[in-house]
Amino acid sequence: MDNKFLEQPHETTKIKKVIGIVSGKGGVGKSLVTSLLAVAMSNKGYKVGVLDADVTGPSIPKVFGIKEKPFADNNENIFPVKSKKDISIMSANLLLERETDPVIWRGPVITGIIKQFWKNVLWNELDYMFIDMPPGTGDVPLTVFQTIPVNGIIVVTSPQELVSMIVEKAVNMAKMMDIPILGLVENMSYIKCPDCGKEIKIFGESKIDDVAKKFNISVVDKMPVNPEITALCDKGEIETAPDGNLKNIVDIL
Ligand SMILES: Nc1ncnc2c1ncn2[C@@H]1O[C@H](COP(=O)(O)OP(=O)(O)O)[C@@H](O)[C@H]1O
Ligand SMILES: [Mg+2]
Ligand SMILES: [Zn+2]
Repeated sequence: MDNKFLEQPHETTKIKKVIGIVSGKGGVGKSLVTSLLAVAMSNKGYKVGVLDADVTGPSIPKVFGIKEKPFADNNENIFPVKSKKDISIMSANLLLERETDPVIWRGPVITGIIKQFWKNVLWNELDYMFIDMPPGTGDVPLTVFQTIPVNGIIVVTSPQELVSMIVEKAVNMAKMMDIPILGLVENMSYIKCPDCGKEIKIFGESKIDDVAKKFNISVVDKMPVNPEITALCDKGEIETAPDGNLKNIVDIL
């Protein structure tokens, strides 16, 4: 894609790799995957940032247990909030009076906020920035891709969805933007029996490997429904989650 669409970040911002995490709709685990990838790379010693661009359901601060407001100076510079493990985080939720306030901004306002998060936030030097993208493949995610130079996309699906159609839409969007799809995550793929460890596929045999093959995507991770992870999200302690949930994807980042 022509670079003229891309916006320049703050002059002090230097980011080596920007990864966008997309899904067909909300509730499939996009924010969880974004957070787990950020934590995994941070645990490896990289400098990591998370840009929560899902203004419709900004849940990143919650899973990291962040309540403080980002500091802004007189020159419209915004400083990201740091997590316990020093991950830099920016989210619309941090700008709301109360974190339970509903967000009813329309498309243009949302894209304006996301542009600000890119241009006015002093991200400093990062090895990885993970972007929790707005769900779907509509105007808002497209504008994000036209604003921020995303290096690769990870698609999150759940077995209850029309996975092939969702991946196809993401593939088409990625092609249009000339950004590679790095891998697929099938979330809530199975549950593990707490007694014997057996993997129970509550939604039947997974179709994700066939879908990956169909679209020529080689990296796939399958993540179980894990009540311990839900609990960590609720407590704002996602940074203490064990590594290894998204091993195949982490290996290629
Ligand atoms: N594999 C999983 N195991 C346990 N809980 C999960 C899993 N995936 C998602 N959840 C929970 O489901 C809810 C929705 O996930 P979230 O990542 O916020 O979805 P999205 O960002 O796609 O809307 C959250 O409460 C999250 O903690
Ligand atoms: Mg989310
Ligand atoms: Zn069992």
